[in-house]
Parts: sequence; structure tokens; C-alpha cells
Amino acid sequence: MPSLEDVLETVNERVTPSADERQRLTAAAERLTSRAEAAIADRGVEADVLQVGSTARGTWLAGDRDIDIFVRFDPELPREKLETLGLEIGHAVLPEGHQEYAEHPYVKGNFEGFDVDCVPCYGVESASKIRSAVDRTPFHTQYLEARIDDDLASDIRMFKRFLKGIGAYGSNLKTRGFSGYLAELLVVEYSGLESLLKAAANWHPPVEFDPEDHGTASFNDPLVVIDPTDPERNVAAVCAADNVARLQHYARELLDEPTLSLFFPPDCEPLEVAEIRERLATRETTAVALVFEPPDIVDDQLYPQLEKSRIGIQSGLEGHGFAVFRSESIVDPDNDIAVLLFELATTRLPAVEHHEGPPVAVREHATGFYKAYADREDCVGPFIDGERYVVERPREWTDGLEYLASEAIFDVGLGARIEASLKNGYELRINDEIAELTDKIGTELTAYLKPEP
Ligand code: UTP
Ligand code: MN
Repeated sequence: MPSLEDVLETVNERVTPSADERQRLTAAAERLTSRAEAAIADRGVEADVLQVGSTARGTWLAGDRDIDIFVRFDPELPREKLETLGLEIGHAVLPEGHQEYAEHPYVKGNFEGFDVDCVPCYGVESASKIRSAVDRTPFHTQYLEARIDDDLASDIRMFKRFLKGIGAYGSNLKTRGFSGYLAELLVVEYSGLESLLKAAANWHPPVEFDPEDHGTASFNDPLVVIDPTDPERNVAAVCAADNVARLQHYARELLDEPTLSLFFPPDCEPLEVAEIRERLATRETTAVALVFEPPDIVDDQLYPQLEKSRIGIQSGLEGHGFAVFRSESIVDPDNDIAVLLFELATTRLPAVEHHEGPPVAVREHATGFYKAYADREDCVGPFIDGERYVVERPREWTDGLEYLASEAIFDVGLGARIEASLKNGYELRINDEIAELTDKIGTELTAYLKPEP
């Protein structure tokens, strides 16, 4: 078994950008900066240009090269002006680029083989005075630059690679993992990767850090890292409990049995259709999928809306007595189909349901309940069970599949654009018919049937 040192040495070699890559990146960033400065001068506005993000701090992973160029305007500049000027300058810097939207529009494009974001922001005096979320970014760079030396930069790169390997890297709303900035702050907090991993293996969430002792607000999150540059913000706000637990699990695994594959996992082989069919059948559950066209929205809107819809429909099923064994929301890599998958313990329930009334002793409520049901021909009871009235009344839905095929699913909370998509039509697929989707979502079905931490 290789030692942790051996493994980390190899990881370090693989994730450290070569001198050539660094040189090309620096040269590209310099050219981009001068272009932006020229575009600013052409327009006679007050603004400066700075490079931010991991490529500005020397903490990017070899080959993973995005350059973030920020154009920083006077905070007095009206928002509309910032947007139009920001785009004009962005297009001047990246003539082949295209516009994207975050909190405000910016330009994204390729330059000398690098993915470049050219983002306008306000040069506020401190991160607590931000006017838009991106205004914080320059403060992050400033804060970390002062605290990262070459050794810590290596550890940061290895930690980021580890998080990628275990599927916990990225603050997008599909992953809900660790952002690059969060990863850097944690390595700095523990003065290195090994002590971070050893500590994480023993965390008891909620885990809280306050590197600059702001002593501020309490956040209701499993991991709290108060932003050194903004006391009001938890840097780990989007990091889900799953990903904190995932880090803990794999930190223990790495410390127990160091292996390179945790950093560079082999591609998982998706199961064949027949195998998926077989595994579904063996479970003797009923898997039901609502298959529909995904709405045309960005992933950071799509995934939260899918999750909201999955949870809504699951609660609808459970509210009607259909126990959901497990559920998942899936979109295929080409964005062709969206799938809300519910694995039901049973799809058929009896014609009657048990409905509990109040304790007889609570006279007013109890009498009201009794009167409401006493004359109903379609009910059995009311009778007494223990201290309470009970009635057996007709069940609204006896077939879970009929429920899922009906308009009743629109009574639960759904993501707005998912609701609209479902209203345009969806297909219900059951068991084998889900296996038939293997060519589109084989990887996701495999992950569902062979789940790992
Ligand atoms: P990036 O997403 O490019 O992160 O955002 P990164 O730190 O450069 O990491 P990698 O190596 O590309 O994966 C650039 C900067 O924007 C801010 C951070 O300061 C980050 O360093 N940012 C980004 C946030 O504050 N929050 C986010 O969710 C994303
Ligand atoms: Mn970056």
C-alpha cells in the first residue's frame, strides 16, 4: 500500500501547471488586461482591470484554465451604465465572445485556448458594501493572495482535485458542493491538506469557522465559514449536508488506505440495458418515471426546480399513502429529456383508508368529527380505537400510477418552469420502460442502482 505522502506526491505532480502553462496563462492574462484597459480608455470612463479567481492566485488545476477578468467601475455609476459599458468592453476584449447572464450580463469567450470571463463589477470600499455578488470577488483574491505560499497553493490544488474526484467540487446548484474559494479557505484554516483531512474525518456538523473572528450571525448550515471579507456571508451556504458527509467519508478512506483513484477515479462503466432491467426487477418495487421535455433554463435554475418538483410529487404520493422507497431527478447530458423517478413500495392500496379523529375527551372537536362521519354511507364507523374516534373512509387514490397520470400532481408545489413543461405533456414509464432509456440516461440509472457515498 502506498503511503499518503507517495500518493500526494503523484497528485501534486499531476495537478501542478507546467512552467509553460503558467507562462502562457500569464501572457494571455496580460494581453487581455491591456485590451480591457484600452477599451476603457477609448470610452473615457473611470475603471480598472484586475484578474481574479484561481488563475490569479496560482491555485488552478493543470489544464483547467479559466481566466477571470474583472472590470471594476465606480460605485456611483448607475447599474444600467455598468451593464452596457461592461458588455461593450467585454466584446472589445473578446470579439468572438458571447453574452451570459449571472446577476448581470457579462461576456464569455475563448482567448488563446483559455476560457475567459470578462465581468463588470463595482469597486466598493469593502465586501460588506457590495452592490452585486461579484463585487466580493476581488476581495477574496486580495485576502487569499496575502495568505497563500507555494506549499499551501499545492495543498489547495490537491484538495480541489480530491473534491473533484469524490464529486463534491463546485458551488453550482446541481452539485451543491465546495466552491474553489471555500476549498482555499479551508486549507488555509488548517495550514495544509493533511491536517484538514484528519480534522474533517472527525467533524461533527454543524462545523463553524470564523477566520477573521467577525463573531457574526449564526447560520443554519452544516458547514459555516464566515467570509473573512464579508461578515454577513457564509461561504459554504450552498454546500449541502451530503457533500460535507461525503468529504468526511472519503477523508477517512484516504487516510486509512491512500490511493490515487480517490483523486482520479476511473470512469464508471454504465450498466447494459439488460442489467438495468434485471436490477430493477430484482428489487420488486415499482419504478415510475415522469419523462418530459426539460425547460430551456440555465442549470442553476433547472436543478433546484427539478428538486422542488421531485420533493413535491413525493409528498403528494406519500400524502395519499403511497410510500416512496427512493426518488431521483435526472436530466440526460444533451438536455433532451428530464426524468422524475419515483420508486414505489406499492402502487395499489385498499379501497378504504384509516382516518383518525380526535380523542373522545376533547368534547367539541370529537363531537364535530363524530357528526361529520356518522351518517356517511360510504364510511365504516366512526368507532373507537383507544381514546380516539376512528373512521374508515374511501381512499381518494387507490392506484399510484393513476395518481401520477392525473392532474392531481399539479396540486403539489412544483418548480414553475417544470410545472409548465409537465402541463405540455409527460410520459409515464414503468420498470422495463425506464430501462429502455438507458441510451440516454444509462450513467444516471447506473448511479441510482449502484449508489456509492
Ligand atoms: P470560479 O468559479 O472560477 O472559482 O470563480 P475559482 O476559485 O477560480 O476556482 P476554479 O479553479 O476555477 O475551479 C472565480 C471567483 O469568483 C468568486 C470567488 O472569489 C472565486 O475565486 N466566486 C465564485 C464566489 O465567490 N462564489 C461562487 O459561488 C463562485
Ligand atoms: Mn476560476
